[in-house]
Amino acid sequence: MSSLDNGAVLGIETSCDETAAAVLAGDGRVLAERLWSQSAEHAPYAGVVPEIAARAHLARLPGMIEAVLADAAVAPAAVAATAGPGLIGGLIVGANLGKGFALARGLPFYAVNHLEAHALAARLPGLAAEPPAFPYLTLLVSGGHCLLVETHGPGAHAVLGRTLDDAPGEAFDKVAKMLGLGWPGGPALERLAAGGDPARFPLPRPMLGREGFDFSFSGLKTAVATIVAGYPSGALPERDAADLAAGFQARVAWTLADRARRGMRAAKTCRVLVVSGGVAANAAVRAALRAAAKEEGFALAVPPPDLCTDNAVMVAWAAIERRRGGDPGADLAVAPRPRWPL
Ligand code: KG4
Ligand code: ZN
Repeated sequence: MSSLDNGAVLGIETSCDETAAAVLAGDGRVLAERLWSQSAEHAPYAGVVPEIAARAHLARLPGMIEAVLADAAVAPAAVAATAGPGLIGGLIVGANLGKGFALARGLPFYAVNHLEAHALAARLPGLAAEPPAFPYLTLLVSGGHCLLVETHGPGAHAVLGRTLDDAPGEAFDKVAKMLGLGWPGGPALERLAAGGDPARFPLPRPMLGREGFDFSFSGLKTAVATIVAGYPSGALPERDAADLAAGFQARVAWTLADRARRGMRAAKTCRVLVVSGGVAANAAVRAALRAAAKEEGFALAVPPPDLCTDNAVMVAWAAIERRRGGDPGADLAVAPRPRWPL
């Protein structure tokens, strides 16, 4: 262990539509946290509007940083902010506030990769009796991302597969919109699907029989759109909407489990499947992955929903993992970047 591992870390997250700040002790205990979801600001547009997001981050983040510092009542020894991938306006707000704070106090600054933060969140202390040991297989399923990755440690990720088109959360949101549900659509679609018959409509199984580890959701989404288009506009009966939602959700769960199963067979040194991102909050998805992991002899680790969706705790934690590896946090010159592959 490095001598860097004892100090508290201030974490900042602004890559999409959650504004968040947190202070973690050097051992990963959460000392203070604030999170503001901007969903209500973006809901009228049925999607995240980058300019609105950036302005909302700027309006709220400084006060949130002050609040977590006051709550934590310890001076941070380092600052970490998401620097990508994500919406550039928000990344500039969060990363530059973080850098300014670090500069003013003479602290190291960690430019955190948001995807790495999701991938490492399952190792936060207290979530499981034993945190998943490296290497493990990570399935990251959110509104913006779909990745299957071998996680060997901070800065060491081998991407096995990714989506060729939509992310699963994006597909949930688009199908929810077709079914007349609000935004974000994932949770509403899950509620509607609870009363539906998943076998009623014939829907495709994405990537059925395809080699490799890539994902695709646009064909499934189009199949739902085609069925919806068969009804007179605005006249989809509740029963049919519920059956369609259940069918769509079951197919998403199926394809995630199918791809993860292939990954578990290939990733010979891994024994744990970690699932993270907003779609991991879906019970049907979790159940399908739990069954697949069991069949393959893998343990399943899914952080609680508030650590699966975007948050600042995971950002601070990613920096703590790096500090333990001896990374001194000399990232002041790292510019925020909208694209930043693992
Ligand atoms: O990880 P996240 O908070 O943000 C990023 O995209 O990074 O994920 C948000 C996505 C949205 O597309 C939302 O509809 C989806 O996760 N989601 C769900 C559920 N809860 C959130 N999708 C399906 N079922 C859910 N229960
Ligand atoms: Zn995310």
